[in-house]
Amino acid sequence: MKLTAHRGLSSLAPENTLSAFKKAIQFGCDSIELDVQLSADHIPVVFHDQTVNRCTNGQGKVSDLTWHELRLLDAGLWFSDEFEGEYIPSLAEILSLAASKKININIELKTFPGCDIDLLCEKVALVIMESEIDDEQLLFSSFSTDALLCITQYAPTIRRGQLWQTIPYDFLNILQQIDAYSVHCDYRFLTEQQTVKVKSAGFQLHCYTANFPELVKEHGNWGVDRIITDTPQSFVKSKALEPVLDI
Ligand code: G3P
Ligand code: MG
Repeated sequence: MKLTAHRGLSSLAPENTLSAFKKAIQFGCDSIELDVQLSADHIPVVFHDQTVNRCTNGQGKVSDLTWHELRLLDAGLWFSDEFEGEYIPSLAEILSLAASKKININIELKTFPGCDIDLLCEKVALVIMESEIDDEQLLFSSFSTDALLCITQYAPTIRRGQLWQTIPYDFLNILQQIDAYSVHCDYRFLTEQQTVKVKSAGFQLHCYTANFPELVKEHGNWGVDRIITDTPQSFVKSKALEPVLDI
């Protein structure tokens, strides 16, 4: 199995920050997952929660704050003093880093209730078009099938993965609708039978968010392709994984 650094190397640096992405690259990860949503003035920003309360020194919804307001927040102190001064990155900044370092990015399209999915997809696609990144370096994912359908209109050549906590009974129908490349599901609820079905239907299978190799020992044997993890460092010595980390 291969590894994707979840929100960057988020066990060693504040999630979804430049430091977390740089650490993942330094560590030798070939792929990084990040979350994207729009600021109040429609700039795609890399941030997981609907509000800035947990991961910054500010308060309020990301979608109510302008890019300038978001940029003034400290996104590192909540994690540790060492990261004081860290800021919320834009998607454009991370794509620029990924293009120069030739690293793959799994862009999770975050949709919260009331979110304008069409606007999110339009703006994200625009940032990608203006970046130097190759389409092959990118993979969209979302819990929202609507967002995956919509992004197909704006960026048809970039692969798509459906996020589910548990894979539904009618998974094939949904994957066909979005012409999916991959399925991303919670490792805790995945069964061997589901794995076989997804793999024999021709899709990649990624599991989130497993932070200890022993939790996904069987998953590799079943046929899971990739583990999305906060702790790629804990997998280095695991025999269950191919040595994809160049450290
Ligand atoms: O993409 C896998 C994982 O990131 C999905 O859940 O909440 O961590 O964005 P979440
Ligand atoms: Mg995510």
